Amino acid sequence: MSSSRRPSSSLMMTSTIPGSARRGSERRVNDRRGSGLSSTEGLSRRGSIDPSRLVPMDRTTHVGGTDNFNVVFVGAGNIMFGSDEGPWNHSFRFEHKLGLRLKVVALIDPAIERATAVLQKKCDSFVVSAYQDTRVFKTLEDFVKNMTPKERPRAVLVGSPPMFRGTLQPGRDIEMQIMKYFPGAAMFIEKPIATGPKNEIEEAFKVAKHITESKAICSVGYMLRYLKAVQLMKQIIEENQLTVMATIARYACAYEAIAKPDWWDKSKSAGPIVEQGTHFCDLSRYFGGEVDISTVTAHSLEWDENAGHLSKMAIDESKIAPENRIPRVTAATWKYDSGAVGSFTHVATLQGHNYSCELEVHADGYSLKLVNPYVQPVLYVRKPGDDHEQMYTFPDDDPFFSEVSNWIDIIEDIEEEPEAAQILSSYEDACKTYELTWAIREASERSRANKLAASKAAAETRV
Ligand SMILES: NC(=O)c1ccc[n+]([C@@H]2O[C@H](COP(=O)([O-])OP(=O)(O)OC[C@H]3O[C@@H](n4cnc5c(N)ncnc54)[C@H](O)[C@@H]3O)[C@@H](O)[C@H]2O)c1
Repeated sequence: MSSSRRPSSSLMMTSTIPGSARRGSERRVNDRRGSGLSSTEGLSRRGSIDPSRLVPMDRTTHVGGTDNFNVVFVGAGNIMFGSDEGPWNHSFRFEHKLGLRLKVVALIDPAIERATAVLQKKCDSFVVSAYQDTRVFKTLEDFVKNMTPKERPRAVLVGSPPMFRGTLQPGRDIEMQIMKYFPGAAMFIEKPIATGPKNEIEEAFKVAKHITESKAICSVGYMLRYLKAVQLMKQIIEENQLTVMATIARYACAYEAIAKPDWWDKSKSAGPIVEQGTHFCDLSRYFGGEVDISTVTAHSLEWDENAGHLSKMAIDESKIAPENRIPRVTAATWKYDSGAVGSFTHVATLQGHNYSCELEVHADGYSLKLVNPYVQPVLYVRKPGDDHEQMYTFPDDDPFFSEVSNWIDIIEDIEEEPEAAQILSSYEDACKTYELTWAIREASERSRANKLAASKAAAETRV
């Protein structure tokens, strides 16, 4: 079966894609495995994919061959097996990409009952061949102790909570364990790479160094980078040789729909910027380049301020320690190393279900505005010579499939189209996004502490 992909017709626009010539590949670092995304890479010209190559599942053929493709899944939760909260469901995309070759040799999750239940559902369906021999273990070590040579995984997909990864500490070092037990196996790690205390960021960078040195193929789940709209933005920037001058990101989540108590507790999830806003901080970096972390400033609206009251929370916030309750609004600005300016505002204000998120990228003569990337991406482009924006829509786009598909193509080392597959988010790059999100959280907490101290001092002066 062929692995080559047809150009998609699912990019709808009110005008044609600017410039028919494809990117000059000599202009960019073409390390398809993701390690080319280091700080030495040019500002906005990180790895990119021709948007016409991002093909939805129903218009692609699965990777051919008859040999088994052994995978270990770590985590049996929503990201792996889907939920009502969103379109994510890695197992579903794997099944489509690998077809009958997919063999999930082990599912690692301390919640054995949950893992067993999701497997049972799979075994009751037409994808039974991928799961009929899957064994459930509480830890990766347990699997290693019981593994037969035939079960050795070619790839490990990690969708456990981030508090259990991204460090060198036992029990929170899944990446190190994978490299130790399965050298050469590819890794896919969900975002964010960790949610530990800030002083552990250095450890995450050490994990990144180990991954780079091991040469393991590793992709991190910042799937918005794989949106057709995002890749069209990249294409416009590259083809017109633009220098990004500003990124303006706004992320409004529908707080009413968030019923996980941990999300509302900074001590558990590290707060909404580190856990959720991370997607948009990452996209901002994807366009703006490296951030000068020392320039990050931020303000927040907190739960105990007059304007911070929320009337439709699905959880009981009184059960969370006051110091661990999350801000309702966080607004940050920073300088990129290029001199460009970035800004990001996260608000937990919407009710209902859908989020409202926008990212603007500005360059001389150009504005690229990405609207609603989670639900139905629309891109508005303003160019020199026309005061009106052109609108592009992208029906049927599936960035979750594209990130998995590209990762598997790299593992399979498909050479027939060397431009085709790219890993757009390396582990090291994801560490930098993690660092930015922590810097934003810290800057907002600093501002708040300064304001409280100033108010206290003013009150004391009055007395
Ligand atoms: N890219 C996206 O849009 C997206 C969407 C959803 C989730 N995610 C990410 O996926 C990750 C998991 O989120 P989720 O929603 O699936 O969470 P979840 O709570 O639904 O599932 C996590 C599962 O991991 C299990 N687990 C706990 N500790 C473990 C360990 N040490 N080893 C293995 N498994 C362990 C839990 O028992 C649970 O079954 C998070 O990092 C989250 O941010 C990303």
